[in-house]
Amino acid sequence: MNEAKYIWMDGELKPWGDAKVHILTHTLHYGNAVFEGTRAYQTEKGLAIFKLEEHVKRLYNSAKIVAITPNREYQEVYDAHIELLKANDFKENVYIRPLIYLGYGVMGLYHKNAPVNTAIAAWEWGAYLGDEGLENGIKCCTSSITRNPNRSTFGKAKAAANYLNSQMAKFEAVENGFDEALMLDENAFIAEGTGECIFIVRDGKLVSPPNDNSLESITQATVLELAKDMGIEIERRNITRDEIYIADELFLTGTAAEVTPVNSLDHRVIGNGKRGELTKKLQEAYFDVVYGRNPKYEHYLTYI
Ligand SMILES: Cc1ncc(COP(=O)(O)O)c(C=O)c1O
Repeated sequence: MNEAKYIWMDGELKPWGDAKVHILTHTLHYGNAVFEGTRAYQTEKGLAIFKLEEHVKRLYNSAKIVAITPNREYQEVYDAHIELLKANDFKENVYIRPLIYLGYGVMGLYHKNAPVNTAIAAWEWGAYLGDEGLENGIKCCTSSITRNPNRSTFGKAKAAANYLNSQMAKFEAVENGFDEALMLDENAFIAEGTGECIFIVRDGKLVSPPNDNSLESITQATVLELAKDMGIEIERRNITRDEIYIADELFLTGTAAEVTPVNSLDHRVIGNGKRGELTKKLQEAYFDVVYGRNPKYEHYLTYI
């Protein structure tokens, strides 16, 4: 773990080692919390958070979905991101983890009387699926675990409890020698990765499933916007695992995973088994945006 100097907790900058909670913290037992994964990049004009507003909005939307009333105003949390990055004086790219959780004081499943707390941590973090993965692609499998069904959980919320599913799928994939898992929805269409949305390229068209069974991904939206601006034909429709086997390219998008090419799914080589041409183009365009090298999209950056 790349420790930083401070973690923001309910309005206070606490030294990293002092950012602690009680063992009877409600969330720790029953899993109701919401969080974000946000990135800040070292641009030529200094550290900049990518799509801060979109991430803070999704955090508050997630809280609403899981019936948590935030204890802090939106603007305070938005500003705290900036305050925290300033105080930590980072030299590398940064991953930011805001969390709204249920604290200490009440036990039992009825959660509305539990106190609500908000924290933001940030640390220096490189490529989630590895630098090698970004360049040469990763190996995926189709998970035996179905993505959380809409009938029983809330997939539009980036809620802690949703990630037990993702964690088990990731565990199974890695233990079986893969880098990442793709989960199916209840109708056996590809839903999403354990922390990413998916794209394929077929006959020059870019295809990404609708968000009925995936998080409303901020990176996916960015890639779709870039593709549209580049004049690439886009389809939002369901994809089956066998369609992926015969796709020309496959890649994953997520704040952590950025734009990561996939070489194979279930031991079937995708395309020529290397980072695809369109994948590379979109990956480069994405990095140009987050690193502030494309003025057209600079409004997505919040400089620290
Ligand atoms: C389950 C899941 N799907 C998709 C994504 C991609 O979302 P974003 O691009 O907003 O990071 C994430 C990561 O946040 C995720 O956890």
